[in-house]
Amino acid sequence: MSRLLYIQASPRGERSHSLALADAFVAAYRKLHPKDAVETRNVFQMNLPALDGETLAVKYNIMHGEPSSDAEKARWKAVEEVIADFKAADKLVFAVPMWNFNIPYALKHYLDVLCQPSYTFSAGPEGYKGLCAAKAFIAYSRGGEYPATGAAQDIWNFQSTYLEFQLRFIGITDVQSAIVQPTLKGPEALQKAKDAALAKALEIAATF
Ligand SMILES: Cc1cc2nc3c(=O)[nH]c(=O)nc-3n(C[C@H](O)[C@H](O)[C@H](O)COP(=O)(O)O)c2cc1C
Repeated sequence: MSRLLYIQASPRGERSHSLALADAFVAAYRKLHPKDAVETRNVFQMNLPALDGETLAVKYNIMHGEPSSDAEKARWKAVEEVIADFKAADKLVFAVPMWNFNIPYALKHYLDVLCQPSYTFSAGPEGYKGLCAAKAFIAYSRGGEYPATGAAQDIWNFQSTYLEFQLRFIGITDVQSAIVQPTLKGPEALQKAKDAALAKALEIAATF
């Protein structure tokens, strides 16, 4: 039995195109794997711990091989809980809008909490090693349209490039995706984009 964690990064509920696409993926997955556990987190509602100076003291203590005080450890507990929840999943589904060419800030906050030395990656003489192993599906949405290859993508799209880089860094290398784009260029273009993204998502869900 698998545990699928569905991570939502749009606050737009019913209006969200990335959520609609990821919802359809998860619904198809549930039909095929009725015994698997599916849990949903919306990063805008998670009450993620602030990475303030006291909390971050633990991160640096770990990096420098130094002990942490009980007070520091208590603050760090919330970070450990977010990481444990993430690492307990062997399958991940993300719904991710493009915001200012990148991911929404609440998802960045989530990733900043998750990416901690000795928990999700290690650093040694041979370099960095990711400590996570889940596979992932990402439903992206974008108001505009960004080509998959070429100079325009290199310059404008920091959404999929950043997220997938960060996931690879922590060991999540089996990543597939579908993109609804453009969502803001009229109803005809939107419908075409939704249909194409849904077909791709359902194809991926069949073997996820
Ligand atoms: C704060 C904010 C910033 C945005 N920045 C971009 C952007 O840089 N490029 C783009 O193509 N669309 C941008 N958009 C449009 C969204 O990507 C688009 O509306 C998308 O459908 C939102 O995802 P959702 O429908 O899943 O919420 C932005 C939207 C918001 C709210």
